[in-house]
Amino acid sequence: PTKTDHQLILMHEFAADMYHHILMNTEEGQEALDYLENRGFTKEMIEKYRIGWALPEWNYMATALQRKGFSEEELVSSGLGIQREQKNGFFDRFRGRIMFPITNESGKVIAFSGRILVKSKEEAKYLNSPESPIFQKSQVLYNVHLARNAIRKNRKIVLFEGFMDVIAAGKAGVDNALATMGTSLTPQHIKAMKRFAQEIVLCFDGDDAGWEAAKRAAIALNEENFKVEVAVLPGKMDPDDFVREHGKEAFKEQIIGKPHAFIAFAMMHARRHKNFQYENDLLQYIQEVLQLLAGRSSPIERDLYIKQLSNETGLSEEAILQQYRKLENKTIERSRPSAPVQEKAPKRDPKR
Ligand code: UTP
Ligand code: MN
Ligand code: MN
Ligand code: MN
Ligand code: MN
Repeated sequence: PTKTDHQLILMHEFAADMYHHILMNTEEGQEALDYLENRGFTKEMIEKYRIGWALPEWNYMATALQRKGFSEEELVSSGLGIQREQKNGFFDRFRGRIMFPITNESGKVIAFSGRILVKSKEEAKYLNSPESPIFQKSQVLYNVHLARNAIRKNRKIVLFEGFMDVIAAGKAGVDNALATMGTSLTPQHIKAMKRFAQEIVLCFDGDDAGWEAAKRAAIALNEENFKVEVAVLPGKMDPDDFVREHGKEAFKEQIIGKPHAFIAFAMMHARRHKNFQYENDLLQYIQEVLQLLAGRSSPIERDLYIKQLSNETGLSEEAILQQYRKLENKTIERSRPSAPVQEKAPKRDPKR
């Protein structure tokens, strides 16, 4: 890390301590503390994740950082301060928000995400630090510092959509938990996770966006040779909602403890919003599942899922298997390395 990186980290550490102190020890922090307690946060959880409160004032943090000796340039580069128009001083990026520090792999604070107390149409629910020399959203995973040992021990990562879910999982004793910072999963995230484990359980929100994100993430991770499983939540709940409504035990045992295999999940995904009364839906479903199976599954998996398809659709296993063979041949042709010219020469002129 460069000298600038070091300075930027010092600023974030200073800010995290100050936000945390205001939340825990001042009257101004009481409303936010009540909000967190209503959401099931204990004092221990607030300490563990170093949660804080940014006062609803225009330049509380900017002033404090400058008084501490940080330069105007550093203030802007950290993202904590924003320069006013006409270069007429600075104001705080985070005002009136509950502050969640985002740390690097050594546990040093490199960014923040701030949540408003009351949802509104005017303002984003979460405001994140901008990219900076020490914070790249496409690379950072929330909680690596705290989760690393548990991941090694379990040989498995549990990946969530939101850091609130990571915190809820921690409360339920699921410590091998990570989340992206509100972006979809990138190749850099996957590479980073590969250093810790080869197995992953995805536990995304139960709404449509969550299902779609889980499907995309599952495919990307499967392609990078992760053993992928997906824990599915009932209805439109997210993991944090589930823990609050059904408790830690149920979450740990029935949700995280009973994930679906990659293909089983993909079948559930393909069945969503389909009605098998309609021929088109039925045919599309079979096609989607067979495509998924073609080329990547073992004979046992193939047998298992073709049986399941037959049960679900009322079509014979033989017919489904035949359709599967057709698709498989196409898949093999596509993935075969280019053969010598004579062998590949088409019998008919394709242009005719
Ligand atoms: P969610 O909307 O699912 O948030 O977004 P959540 O974790 O359930 O939060 P609560 O329970 O409403 O407080 C998931 C993730 O997407 C990013 C955040 O990283 C969040 O953790 N996000 C969401 C943003 O960056 N900005 C937003 O305005 C909303
Ligand atoms: Mn403290
Ligand atoms: Mn969501
Ligand atoms: Mn959510
Ligand atoms: Mn939530």
